[in-house]
Amino acid sequence: MSQTFSIAVIGGDGIGPEVIAEARRALNAALAHEDTTLQYTDYELGTSHWLKTGETLHEETLESLRAHDAILFGAVGADPQDKRIPSGVIERDLLLKLRFELDHYINLRPTRTYPGVPTPLAAAEDFDFVVVREGTEGPYVGNGGTLRRGSEHEIATEVSVNTAHGVRRVVADAFRRAASRRGRLTLVHKHNVLTHAGNLWRRAVEEHAAQYPQVSWDYMHVDAATIHMVADPQRFDVIVTDNLFGDILTDLAGAVSGGIGQAPSASINGEGTAPSMFEPVHGSAPDIAGQGIADPTAAVLCAGLMLDHLGLDQAAARIERAVHTQLSQWAEQDTGQGLSTTERGEAYVSRIKALT
Ligand code: NAI
Ligand code: MG
Repeated sequence: MSQTFSIAVIGGDGIGPEVIAEARRALNAALAHEDTTLQYTDYELGTSHWLKTGETLHEETLESLRAHDAILFGAVGADPQDKRIPSGVIERDLLLKLRFELDHYINLRPTRTYPGVPTPLAAAEDFDFVVVREGTEGPYVGNGGTLRRGSEHEIATEVSVNTAHGVRRVVADAFRRAASRRGRLTLVHKHNVLTHAGNLWRRAVEEHAAQYPQVSWDYMHVDAATIHMVADPQRFDVIVTDNLFGDILTDLAGAVSGGIGQAPSASINGEGTAPSMFEPVHGSAPDIAGQGIADPTAAVLCAGLMLDHLGLDQAAARIERAVHTQLSQWAEQDTGQGLSTTERGEAYVSRIKALT
């Protein structure tokens, strides 16, 4: 049965469009012999677009994005030296707005090593875990304010929002993932100090644990989790945590697994009421933009996550396998350094073709 998916593509700023071009090549190669077509629509959004037009994200653009099956997203963000763009405008009014409006409550960040590919950790053992970060609540919802600004008595609040609905649905997703992986789930929070939210999270996990006897779970304070992620990352399978802890922990996860250029992520609407979005963890990397040297690996892995989400699991597996074998080959033969973005992209495409 032939099928067509409509994909919105937001290349964004800096290296975003450079790495997304390689992701698209990988997608086309992975689907070359399947009766599935991806129809791409490019959207120009990000800081360059904002400077040109004053648009961060119009309602019409948002509605048009909603109509797609998925969104492939590069990176947005200005050079921090560029004083023409007020800090946070693009992050808040574009990135966070997309996540909230499209109800991306599952922020998925798979983290793994590849045989032979070096990591900054002393222990060379491979690991493979996924962080399921809540994406629509916590301290990121803008629930706060300032009183007596600029005075001795200034008050600033940033209230973390945790709803039973919001916590339960992300915990449910994490249990499903753990059940289809190695059957281990770790709740990361700080419930000894953040007792109200922490208690809600803990009860949500206890309730779901009863439905998943095949999943064993444990609890870890977020500060301890940073130690274990460096000292013993093999112990993790699925980590479920709130928006802020997940943000911080996944940067660490990216760093310990061999680099930000290889870390993909997915912002998922679990009910499918709006398109999910697939984006590298890295930003627009203004320091290397335009030089054709950005690593497209994270973007290519995002393409794989997107295919998996669309139910095209065989094509998704081809991308994952291609990246896996190619990275290991570069590492073993020590030939991975100094390659351009397109050279890397082409290597992945040939690997994918060999698998189809
Ligand atoms: P960044 O991730 O863009 O860069 C950090 C460092 O990693 C830089 O040295 C960069 O060259 C390197 N790097 C990143 N991706 C790479 C790749 N694929 N290949 C090789 N090297 C890579 O983070 P930074 O510098 O803090 O932020 C730059 C801009 O990106 C800012 O405006 C920031 O707000 C934005 N940003 C956007 C994100 C998004 O769109 N999701 C996420 C993170 C930052
Ligand atoms: Mg972050």
